[in-house]
Amino acid sequence: LTSADVDHFRSILPEGAVLSTLAPTATTGPGTAVDADELDAYNADWMHKYCGQSQCVLRPKTTDQVSQILAYCHAQRLAVVPQGGNSGLVGGSVPVFDEVVVSMANFNQIRRFDEVSGVLVCDAGCVLETLDHYVADRGYMMPLDLGAKGSCHIGGNVSTNAGGIRYLRYGSLHGSVLGLEVVLPDGTVLDNLSTLRKDSTGYDLKQLFIGAEGTLGIVTGVSIVTPPRPKVQTVAVFGVESYEQVQQAFRLAKANLNEILSACEFWDRSSLDMVLDHNQGNPNVRDPLAAPYPFYVLVETSGFHKDHDDAKMAHYLETVLEQGVVADGVLSENATQMANFWYIRETISEAAVKTGPTYKYDVSIPVPQLYNLVLETQKRLAEQGLYREGVADQPIKLVTGYGHLGDGNLHLNVVAREFTPTVSSALEPFIYEWVGKSSLLKSFSIQVIGTGVSQATELDTECHMVSPSHRGSISAEHGLGLMKAPHLHYSKSPSMIRTMQSIKHLFDPHGIMNPYKYLPKVDKE
Ligand code: FAD
Ligand code: MLT
Ligand code: ZN
Repeated sequence: LTSADVDHFRSILPEGAVLSTLAPTATTGPGTAVDADELDAYNADWMHKYCGQSQCVLRPKTTDQVSQILAYCHAQRLAVVPQGGNSGLVGGSVPVFDEVVVSMANFNQIRRFDEVSGVLVCDAGCVLETLDHYVADRGYMMPLDLGAKGSCHIGGNVSTNAGGIRYLRYGSLHGSVLGLEVVLPDGTVLDNLSTLRKDSTGYDLKQLFIGAEGTLGIVTGVSIVTPPRPKVQTVAVFGVESYEQVQQAFRLAKANLNEILSACEFWDRSSLDMVLDHNQGNPNVRDPLAAPYPFYVLVETSGFHKDHDDAKMAHYLETVLEQGVVADGVLSENATQMANFWYIRETISEAAVKTGPTYKYDVSIPVPQLYNLVLETQKRLAEQGLYREGVADQPIKLVTGYGHLGDGNLHLNVVAREFTPTVSSALEPFIYEWVGKSSLLKSFSIQVIGTGVSQATELDTECHMVSPSHRGSISAEHGLGLMKAPHLHYSKSPSMIRTMQSIKHLFDPHGIMNPYKYLPKVDKE
């Protein structure tokens, strides 16, 4: 990146839209240089784990401006990092070296809302919570909700295929996003901002950009269907003695609450302890129950008929208490109490980062195996002399587990004293191997003798039968970013990775979009 490049950006963007430490080449040129610390917030991620050294941040306000930026970067082979609310947890939203940051923060207008269909069309830089307030005034809600709602953008949510706390009820963005406007790496505007629920006219191109993490282009506009906003909500929090009972509480919630179940989350005692520690003095944050429990389950209902919903919740509470599935429980009596319960769950992440440098793992595994990963990780770290529960001065302070139980999504957080190669190598690839499929394993299709049935199984390289792997995903909802790019093979086969690399090459032949992230390096044959 040279001063001449920055001059060019200053000439195509309005005043204030270019933040660069590089001064204009001519004293008469537009704009002035800024101090390096003005770029700090764009260079460092939310966890302060990843930090780049970009000298140039661009803040466009229109699709045409994004198109001009990318066309120029494509021609000049300048690397670009699209950035939304910078709340990502895998190091995808910040530069690795000196890539140009394209921040979408000023690209934040609502374009239109159809009160009949509930379809919202907006700029990619709109903050999720702002959108939720906007549609709330019209009787609707955003189909996703997450702890970072006050800062994350809808464009960032789409680009990471974010999940969040209501995925259980409203499903994936692959279903609720109806259309996207995307600027491709060469500046071409792909106008696919459909508002139709149904459209069977060929390849569904928008799906490629949902979860593409800025590697295929910049999402500039989003069309999304919003569901009617429920009129009645309740939240129950239970203290539970074992992970087996956590699962039973979930199973009974589905069976008894059915269509009004809108969230089912869990956390362990050390997650709660971190939250309580970091909220001392805040009267709204208290241990929800009188005695401590190893596990907590939060169940939320959302509906439209109070009597009906209350009766279902009462029956559910009766069932879990009578059957001894939960040891104790509390039901929200008003909106404030409900918000206080949610606050505990939603601030675990922040409490962990305040407790110490945090290694975060976000995995999908079948619910019965979910918490085993926390136990296995604790065991491994203890064996390596890095962790002893309750003992101070160990390299690892805490190993905690919480997450979206209803979606089989565990957040394993390992809170250390510092990020060190010793701790990293104790955790990786161990965790990825446990979750996914060992890269040494090969899948074969074999005939089960006498049945004629073909069954997929796994054999190790020496062709011994091995126990079934967990076949999980190394990223349930946070994406791949810089953190997981080299580990993709634990969740995707070689042919899938090659196909993904071909798609990347088709859209971005010069590799300017979010380099070093998402995909492993292409092997040179
Ligand atoms: P950024 O962090 O800015 O970017 C994320 C990725 O998307 C980057 O690769 C970036 O290059 C790309 N990108 C951003 N905008 C665009 C665009 N317009 N076009 C193309 N690419 C783009 N995630 C969940 O899934 N579920 C949760 O429950 C959840 N809870 C969280 C709670 C907290 C407290 C925090 C800090 C994070 C949480 N996250 C969660 C992670 C994060 O908030 C989500 O990944 C979110 O979707 C990122 O949005 P963002 O706007 O901040 O994107
Ligand atoms: C959450 O569910 O709290 C988020 O995904 C953030 C995290 O994993 O810490
Ligand atoms: Zn989550």
